[in-house]
This record gives sequence, structure tokens and C-alpha cells, in this order.
Amino acid sequence: MLVIVKETSRQMSAEAAEIVANRLRKKPNLVIGFATGSTPLGLYKLLVRMHKEDGLDFSKVTTFNLDEYVGLPPSHEASYGRYMRQHLFRHLNIPEQSIHLPDGMADDVDAHCEWYEEEIRKAGGIDLQILGIGANGHIAFNEPGSSLGSRTRIKTLAGTTLRDNARFFKRRQDLPKYAITMGVGTIMDAKEILLLATGRGKAEALRAAVEGPITAQCPASIVQLHRKVFIVLDKDAASKLAGSYPDSWHSSLLLER
Ligand code: F6R
Repeated sequence: MLVIVKETSRQMSAEAAEIVANRLRKKPNLVIGFATGSTPLGLYKLLVRMHKEDGLDFSKVTTFNLDEYVGLPPSHEASYGRYMRQHLFRHLNIPEQSIHLPDGMADDVDAHCEWYEEEIRKAGGIDLQILGIGANGHIAFNEPGSSLGSRTRIKTLAGTTLRDNARFFKRRQDLPKYAITMGVGTIMDAKEILLLATGRGKAEALRAAVEGPITAQCPASIVQLHRKVFIVLDKDAASKLAGSYPDSWHSSLLLER
């Protein structure tokens, strides 16, 4: 586990973009797992810029998103499908058929989740999974108490998550109670994980994830068992870590591997 602490969230995004671009240049048919939320927005802006200005090519990439709200069509302004199109997909050259998002409107959710897992397997597994972290330690929508071996399935959203995400819904009563989410086991199968966090609101979750015991009460803590995880933070998100971590890590050292 490599923890990299940057001064600002802008620098965190730049470091993350370097890691993604490096992996993509090394493997043009990279299978990328994408997260939504506020944290990766800076990274996505930079990837769009690298595509437009430096020709970073996404034409052979396959993508799998972590999660989607149940009951929201991709046209809904708060759906993750819409988020991905708006912030990333419509700006890049990823073929439509290579993009995978859980379908929040699936009739048979269990069959859909099995299909999603199968698609990931057929793609050869996820090479690089991008993750944010909830203030309660969730990854994707694996809330505290989620099985650490879980696969893609439907989950009830925690009260804290509903509160945190209410900002994306005009009317609180529209906020979904369930989501389809990759499981913790699905995420851990990714060959590399890039976990990002910014801000003091994430500091306690980060402390529990990086330095606490591995427990389902903080699903993110499972990444301690992953063989290749990069945790890129800004100073505020790292403010409760007791260990000392590089603040000026030279990406190239890491990215040679
Ligand atoms: C989103 C996701 C969530 C978020 C987490 C942090 O696809 O899987 O786990 O990464 O809730 O959200 P932000 O970045 O908005 O603080």
C-alpha cells in the first residue's frame, strides 16, 4: 500500500491523472473501474484535457462503473450514468459498447448483477479501479457491515450516505434508498487500486482505512490486504494519519512498475 500525501486537492488530482495516464499508455486496452462523486472530478477534468491536448487515447479502453442508484434512469440528473456522460464519456473516445454501468432500472436486479460480474470476467478483470471513500468508510456503496467478500449486488444505503448525497437531489424524498454496487470482493479483484480522498471530512475514515484494523465496519480497510494500492490524499484528508508518508513522491519511481 503506497500512501501519497499532496498539499492540495488539485495536486492530488494531478498525481492521480499521472497514474491513470501512465497505466493507459502502457496498456492501451486498459480495463478501468470508475467512481463517481465529488472526489474524482478534478482527475476526470485532467483526463479530458490529456485526451484533447496530448492525444491520450481511450479508444481501446473498457470501463466498469462501481455503482448506480436503483430506480434512477440514466437520464435522471442525479444518476451516475448521467454523471459519467457529463464529466467524462462524452469528452473521450471510448466506444459506447465498451462502457458498462450498473442499470438502476433493471427488472431482475440479481440477474443483472450476475451479468455485470460476468462482463468484468469476460473483459479479463479490472486493471485499475479508481475509488473514493465515504465519510463512514464505505467504498462504492459497500456500507459499514458489508461482507468483505461480497460481489455486485443490491445494497441499502446507510443513513449517513443518504445525508451526504442529499446535496445531489432537488427533493430529499427523491433520494433512492438502494443502489447496485460492485462488492468488496469485486473491487479487491482489481489488479491495481487507486483510492482518492480530499478534505477534513474524510480524515477519520482515512485513518480507519489505512491505520485501523481490517474490519467490515470500515469496508475501505480491506485495501490493506491488496497487493497494489495507491492512496492519494490531500493534506486535510491525511490529517489524522499517525504514520509519515511522502508528500513529494516522484510518480515516475512508482510508475516504472
Ligand atoms: C461513487 C462511490 C462512492 C463515493 C464516496 C465518496 O461511485 O462509489 O463510494 O466514492 O461516497 O463520495 P465523494 O467523492 O462525493 O465524497
